[in-house]
Amino acid sequence: MTSRRKFIGKMAVAGISTQINWFSGYQPDFARNDWKEIRNQFPVSKSPVLNLNSGSAGSMPYPVLEELVKKTHEFNNNALYKTKELYENDIYNAKVKLSNFLGCTPEELALTKNTTESLSAIIWGLPLDKKDEVIFSKSDYPFLQTFIKKRSEKEGFKTNEIELDLPYSSDEDIIERYRNAINSNTKLIVVTMITHREGQILPVKKICQLARENNIEVLVDAAHAPGQVFHSFRDLGCDYYTACLHKWMNGPFGTGLIIVNKEKIGKLNPPAFPYPEVFQNSIRKFDYSGTTAFQNLAVVNAVMDFNQKIDMREKEAHLKNLTAYWTEKIEGIKGAKIITDVNRSAALSGFNIEGINLAKMKRALFEQHKINIKLTSYKRVGFFRVSTNIFTDEKDLDRFVNAVESIVVNHE
Ligand SMILES: Cc1ncc(COP(=O)(O)O)c(C=O)c1O
Repeated sequence: MTSRRKFIGKMAVAGISTQINWFSGYQPDFARNDWKEIRNQFPVSKSPVLNLNSGSAGSMPYPVLEELVKKTHEFNNNALYKTKELYENDIYNAKVKLSNFLGCTPEELALTKNTTESLSAIIWGLPLDKKDEVIFSKSDYPFLQTFIKKRSEKEGFKTNEIELDLPYSSDEDIIERYRNAINSNTKLIVVTMITHREGQILPVKKICQLARENNIEVLVDAAHAPGQVFHSFRDLGCDYYTACLHKWMNGPFGTGLIIVNKEKIGKLNPPAFPYPEVFQNSIRKFDYSGTTAFQNLAVVNAVMDFNQKIDMREKEAHLKNLTAYWTEKIEGIKGAKIITDVNRSAALSGFNIEGINLAKMKRALFEQHKINIKLTSYKRVGFFRVSTNIFTDEKDLDRFVNAVESIVVNHE
């Protein structure tokens, strides 16, 4: 894949309108975006373990972690539900901040446990008939594919599973594949904003436009998007959006969200949410999923306060620069190949090394170098996924590249 030159600040995030009113509440004031200062806010930056797997989970900065510890004590030492009542206003304020950040209204956004729960609510909650068809791709998250296949097996609607051939297909080619899959029975297109293996950013806005022209609804799995790339629910133009706060928003583990276009809320009947009938048309129906880590919800305010201090456009450019940094260096190692089109990725990218046992290499990276990266595979071809975060710096990436190089050299 072609390498990418360093991006420069805000100018780097091409094609993104600066006129999105939905971001009106979003006023970054870490001002200088001093990445060193920001990195120092993360205890993980002082840990002997180098976490290059934010694609699974990021890490909390001090203000969020301290708030979580404080809230955990409070919820633990007073009655759980009683304490939650005291935080209702706080949680609503957090939802307002998050809605501003993601470009929806608070009446369209609910907090959940994770992206998986949010995806399940949409896939199992949508009305679908036997004649209906759902399009999804082999690059979607496996559990999401399982939800669709299981419900289809149970209720008989048709599925149309497409191949995206990442990272080789262009955006136009990808859109064409979705276009070719549409027919008069297509009810729903499921699409991933940033793919979980390669970290490829898909042309979701254009796919939503294509769907609208054909009167089809779109569910966007944006698990990796909040805090990684600058975007807005309203601007994407989808109907349903699912994500989490524990990856690039660096929130508490087990904090997710769901956004539903206001007009579509009423028709969803998610079986795992036994909400009272009065909430049929309200986003509050997703608040009913039983007892959970309520202290996480009470910490979302702190998560948003932290994230709002960082200019999201500059953060995206910074993450892209970090990816450009390590991918260019890794390409210099014998047998190494970048398997992501880094011009269409941000913090996540993949690589493999010819002639090396990747499982052994992963073990050596952790046991000998205390470096954690994800080993994944597609069509039985294994490769590594590396993800950077705002607590990662160039020195970390040098340590990682040197470790890979030493394992390769010692293997020879
Ligand atoms: C694309 C994608 N969708 C969904 C999920 C599930 O996310 P969660 O762990 O928040 O349930 C993941 C997890 O990494 C993912 O990569």
